[in-house]
Amino acid sequence: MELLNRLDEKFETHLERLKEFVAIPSVSTDPQYEADIRRACEWVREQAVAAGLTTEVRETARHPAVIAHNGFRQGLPHLLIYGHYDVQPAEEESTWKHPPFQPTLEDGHLYGRGASDNKGQILAHLCALRALHEMGRELPVNLTVLVEGEEEIGSPNLTEVLKQLAKERPPIDLAIVSDTSTAVKGRPTIQYSLRGIVIAEVFLKTAAREIHSGIFGGTTENAIRALVRLVAKAHDDNNRVTIPGFYDAVREPMEWEQAELESLPFQEEPYLEWIGASQAVGESGFTTNQRRWFRPTLEFNGITGGYQGKGSKTIVPHTASVKFSARLVPDQDPVEIADLLQKWFLQNCPPGAEIDYQKGHAGPAYLIGRDEQERALLETAKGVMREAFEVEPLISRHGGAIPIVTPFETILGAKTLLMGMGLPDDGVHSYDERFSLEQFRKGIRMSALALHRLGKSSG
Ligand code: BES
Ligand code: MN
Repeated sequence: MELLNRLDEKFETHLERLKEFVAIPSVSTDPQYEADIRRACEWVREQAVAAGLTTEVRETARHPAVIAHNGFRQGLPHLLIYGHYDVQPAEEESTWKHPPFQPTLEDGHLYGRGASDNKGQILAHLCALRALHEMGRELPVNLTVLVEGEEEIGSPNLTEVLKQLAKERPPIDLAIVSDTSTAVKGRPTIQYSLRGIVIAEVFLKTAAREIHSGIFGGTTENAIRALVRLVAKAHDDNNRVTIPGFYDAVREPMEWEQAELESLPFQEEPYLEWIGASQAVGESGFTTNQRRWFRPTLEFNGITGGYQGKGSKTIVPHTASVKFSARLVPDQDPVEIADLLQKWFLQNCPPGAEIDYQKGHAGPAYLIGRDEQERALLETAKGVMREAFEVEPLISRHGGAIPIVTPFETILGAKTLLMGMGLPDDGVHSYDERFSLEQFRKGIRMSALALHRLGKSSG
């Protein structure tokens, strides 16, 4: 197709843009990067302007979002392309091969924080739009592009923006999100489900002060011991979460997805090899893919307590804390699960300790494909991917969360197609994050095709 070749020809220019974008350290969780957040937001706005869109920076209580549109023409379907310009922290710079905010090309990838989450993907859309604009092509759809700066902190203010959009604009028929990674390497993947999330932190205290472990040790509770006992109690020997009610709302897979799951060309060996783990460990009775896509989990993300400095210090610590997050599957209610977790931690607080429990953000899982119409939409998306990537796509669930996808449905009334461009070994949220240049090139093709094909089936 002529159009796709034209896009490929511009690849060097697209790559230069990606380097510029990744060089901006737009870390959303740390106030020290406030100016860079603004810079990234403005950079995205400029790209949207260059793509011929009408743009606006919408302020929120924290980080602003870019909203762009192509002018609304009567009778056309309305698509929404969503992504985020904020990135996860990259504070452990020394563990990176290349500094995280000095994008570097190596072995067919661009390395840098945010390259694959989500700057590469959102830029792929903007590059496709700009190229189409430069070719003088008018889009066969009404389009809104929404690029936010709070995804990595749970999109706390974006639902407010969606409510405004619902009032200001013609209704949105379909959202396209490419902020996911393929199920296996070498096969583009349409995802029809995301997991939800509940985040919390426990601060445990056993005394008013740190004490000498010789004079006082063994006579009052040790905060580390109390916390570790509590943490260990949350799972049983079969790696099942012991918290009552945790699995109550979990449903069996639908028949069609069970069939997709079974035919998925997944190999556990390279999966474990990339992680560098000696064996798979998880809830008994489930396969690796069931565990990461169909089952909820409770994961401890960070733990502190006692003396962490050089050498030794003979004390009994009086405080310890743990950060954790639960990944939810469809039909689990994040509010209920958040309450259930809180209740359990408070009830199980060891004698001699007290807990300050702090809830973090929470969001539900997402699922489409429950009826024929949604499955037809997934098939159309598969066709777009097949043509752009020239490989037969897979259909799978996804284990990550994109908190705003469910509000697209509840506030805007729009279903979301997850057409991920990332690869499983891109290192998102980890060090040496990278984006495959081949995925970038094909993702740009996919975006252009999607705009031409998906409007028709979204109504
Ligand atoms: N892009 C990710 C979702 C994702 C996860 C894609 C794994 C590919 C692989 C998204 O930006 C993300 O990281 N979401 C967070 C949400 C959380 C902070 C609320 C997640 O899943 O941890
Ligand atoms: Mn992320």
